[in-house]
Amino acid sequence: MTVPVIVDCDPGHDDVFALWFAAGHPSLELLAVTTVGGNVPLEHTSRNARVALSVAGVVDVPVAAGARGPLARELSTAEWIHGENGLGGPELPDPDAGPTPVPLDPRSATELIADTLAEASEPVAIIATGPITNVAVLLRDRPDLAPRIREVVWMGGSTERGNATPYAEFNAWVDPEALDLVLQSGIRFTMVGLNVTHRALVTSRVRERLAAIGTRTAGFGDELLEFFCRTNDEVFGMPDGPLHDPVAVAVLADPDAVEIVRTRLDVELIGSETVGATSVDLDGMLAREPNAFVAVGLDVERFWADVEAAVARLA
Ligand code: RIB
Ligand code: CA
Repeated sequence: MTVPVIVDCDPGHDDVFALWFAAGHPSLELLAVTTVGGNVPLEHTSRNARVALSVAGVVDVPVAAGARGPLARELSTAEWIHGENGLGGPELPDPDAGPTPVPLDPRSATELIADTLAEASEPVAIIATGPITNVAVLLRDRPDLAPRIREVVWMGGSTERGNATPYAEFNAWVDPEALDLVLQSGIRFTMVGLNVTHRALVTSRVRERLAAIGTRTAGFGDELLEFFCRTNDEVFGMPDGPLHDPVAVAVLADPDAVEIVRTRLDVELIGSETVGATSVDLDGMLAREPNAFVAVGLDVERFWADVEAAVARLA
């Protein structure tokens, strides 16, 4: 039984592996891809999503561009990790040319998601791996579609410290208002935060395993990982770069690989030092109604085996 999914992303090195995981894993059916301004501006994230699918030979999945920036703030980007074009490292092929072109769909992200939900025979899961602006816009503008959304699984936030500020993870920090709107919507929501994604470390052994797949996709991916590990070492002192976004995909592809708990999740919108911080009340201190699932554990070996199996099924 495959799970139908839409991936909303801001490629970004780890977003590319999330796309490949969603496209290649036999437990999932990737129906559509939407992009958002995040790691780099929307023009780059949209082109990069198309490059990722083109390299992997995934030519039957539409890609549409969404929000340029957050609901209520200026866009903050992360070139210091991902490079100026968002996919530092390899030479990027032209996604409009070559044997496996992936054009940009003329629809907006909301239009593509709405059409995809309407055409699907069952509710579709949305996996968001960037600032969650597009999902917030969809739920704000088309609340009628909520019953067609199985759930939202989002890479972002943290039960511990941040990576954009001491208290805020990047995706939450870029657009905290969008996260708040999604949480208020009541949609089934799972947060996959830094507390588990920091266990998805690209060790030299992981790089060897993925490179040994020996395909065009694996070779391109290894060049991405070379750059990603270098910048994570330079910025965070983490030479085994944490590959955040594919962990959100694992929640749906292989639920036993990621431990999640039902808890209370809120996001800080006004703190001068803490805006974007995700407040995860794991001990029930606030006596508020639980409103989300939060990832608290990762079977690391199982996770990498899933990623490897998915990438190996691509071009
Ligand atoms: O904090 C990590 C998240 O921010 C990942 O989604 C990465 O791609 C960046 O978007
Ligand atoms: Ca991302």
